[in-house]
Amino acid sequence: MSFIPKSARIVKMIRFGYNQTRNTEASPDDGGALNWYTVMKRTLVTEAPQQTGKEITLAGWVNARRDHGKVMFLDLRDRTGIIQLVLSKSLGDARPEDVIEVTGTVRERPPEMVNPKIPTGKVEVAATRLEILTKARELPFPIDSDGYDIKEEIRLKYRYLDIRRPRMTRNLRLRSRMTTFIRNFLTARDFVEVETPILTKTTPEGARDFIVPSRLQKGGFYALPQSPQQYKQLLMVAGLERYFQIARCFRDEDPRKDRAYGEFTQLDLEMSFVTQEDILKLTEELFTRLVAEIFPEKRIAKSPWPRISHRDAVNKYGSDKPDLRKDKNNPDELAFAWIIDFPLFTKQSDEDFYHGSGGAKFAPSHHMFTAPHPDDIPLLERDPMKVRGLQHDLVLNGYEVGGGSVRIHRRDIQEKVFDLIGFTGEQKSQFEHMLTAFTYGVPPHGGIAPGIDRFLFAALGELSLREVMAFPTSASGQTSVMDAPSRATDEQLKELGITLRIRSQQDVYETIVSEIRKHNIAFKALSHKPVTTSEEAADVRGTPLSWGAKAILMYADGKPVMLVVAGDTKIDTRAFKTVASVRDLRMATPDEVLAVTGVPIGAVPPFGHIFGIPLYVDEKINLNERVVFNAGYHEKSIELDRSGYLAVAKPQTGKFSKPPKE
Ligand code: AMO
Repeated sequence: MSFIPKSARIVKMIRFGYNQTRNTEASPDDGGALNWYTVMKRTLVTEAPQQTGKEITLAGWVNARRDHGKVMFLDLRDRTGIIQLVLSKSLGDARPEDVIEVTGTVRERPPEMVNPKIPTGKVEVAATRLEILTKARELPFPIDSDGYDIKEEIRLKYRYLDIRRPRMTRNLRLRSRMTTFIRNFLTARDFVEVETPILTKTTPEGARDFIVPSRLQKGGFYALPQSPQQYKQLLMVAGLERYFQIARCFRDEDPRKDRAYGEFTQLDLEMSFVTQEDILKLTEELFTRLVAEIFPEKRIAKSPWPRISHRDAVNKYGSDKPDLRKDKNNPDELAFAWIIDFPLFTKQSDEDFYHGSGGAKFAPSHHMFTAPHPDDIPLLERDPMKVRGLQHDLVLNGYEVGGGSVRIHRRDIQEKVFDLIGFTGEQKSQFEHMLTAFTYGVPPHGGIAPGIDRFLFAALGELSLREVMAFPTSASGQTSVMDAPSRATDEQLKELGITLRIRSQQDVYETIVSEIRKHNIAFKALSHKPVTTSEEAADVRGTPLSWGAKAILMYADGKPVMLVVAGDTKIDTRAFKTVASVRDLRMATPDEVLAVTGVPIGAVPPFGHIFGIPLYVDEKINLNERVVFNAGYHEKSIELDRSGYLAVAKPQTGKFSKPPKE
């Protein structure tokens, strides 16, 4: 290679990189495959009709293939559209979803062959060269349908294919245009876009926090923000006056069709020296223009948007997010409304422990930073439930697509609200930085956060929020494609100073097998149909009932212990209390079994140390030659010599069994 001038060498290396079979001695201008570094000659599908009579090179995916003997029709798809190619099969055989590059001449189709359904339908490309850049396997599901009938699990596993579906591509493009529009609109009005931290301290919005362990401060945890609420208020103290962010928020709450599990995106904004009126006006103008620009086919039902008090909404429509469409079957109708005059507090429910002690009577209706109506401040002392809050919810077609408020900017009122929602000293100290910031000159301020996903979902009438997210989390909390959460390695946990009590069934099984192996003990691993009782187990294993080692998790004086008796006996609790000198003994609940061992009831193996708890084995086990037990699974057992079992399990022993019928 050294004789090639340096510049040519670079080109060749690039070409070599994407197609290893190419002749590296070929000149860069040989009319061969495109040089993907400079992409000199590629024509996009939508540009092709203007090139009629000329030779062009296209690149993209095979959308469809029609075989007509020697001639083949391929529909080529790139990001701009679809175009028909006509080619001789001798050029090669491209299959659907292969990535190809073709050179050919654009020509008009005969009138009877025109396809009015696609913008390029008047032309086709007569190909003279076809290169298959990469082959595609058969896809796991069709991508030419709307996809709603395909199992979501599989759609998310192959999300990168699912996004090829025109509906999904359209949704993502709309989303990008939406955020671009918002950025332009707000920056033109003097807003500053600021990115606020993801690794932070709790910012409660009524859900559970996601927490991230710290390596440098073992035992310390970051919380992922449920919204940038506190930071945006601090930015007002900082004097930015107008802030926005296309912000990622994290909430651990049960998902619904309009609520994402894990993360979602808000247009978060905040302004200083404004009234509620200013916030509503700005938001209304933003969305009105956004709809005109991005959804020209849609019509806003009523402008200016109706403003409805919370009480009227509940009385008149039975909901604080009423669907005000005149024709609910019209997909192009958008009925926006403002809901205002919320009570500042609602009754605190059990779920409100995130908001306070759980013992207080009041929970914030929006969040704890929402300002009371100035006329109602005296009522904070006398009758808090009567206080109105300066909260505003943005409602669209029956969904709450945004929420916000004017904020408290007086330290004394903020403290009063903390008290009313039942914050203890420690909980209050979590927000001390806010109170401190408010002592250095804080402007009156307020804002709102419309949900980007929620808005698009509602405006498009999509079936779920996940249809407008590129890589959403499934309803059960698994991430698309990558399938997180996954286990941390032992080294990672060690570095973080974390010991896990949760294990998987596989871990339990593998730990047992590896410990038996370490002791050089022979064992039999049995796979069988799932069993839950000792009798069933003996039956499928074909071993005597007495060989079965029944492992039972109990709580002795509040601490978990593992008790093991032979399959043909049962635990004599009174005897055990004496053996182990415990006063209080009870069976563990199924949830406790799972939490302590990581495996379900019936699959628990007769060991203690692998779960970090004491193990007691009944003396009757010694009457058996062999021991057999479920090893973490209902369908997997291990059989070995009694002495081998005892060598691995190292139990305390005693007499605490009795015959089953007594
Ligand atoms: P709030 O908690 O009301 O307010 O949230 C504002 C908006 O965010 C969207 N949203 C969600 N979208 C998808 N999945 C979720 N799990 C989810 N949760 C909320 C909704 C909702 O209206 N900091 C305040 C805003 C403020 O006061 O300025 C806040 O986050 O569209």
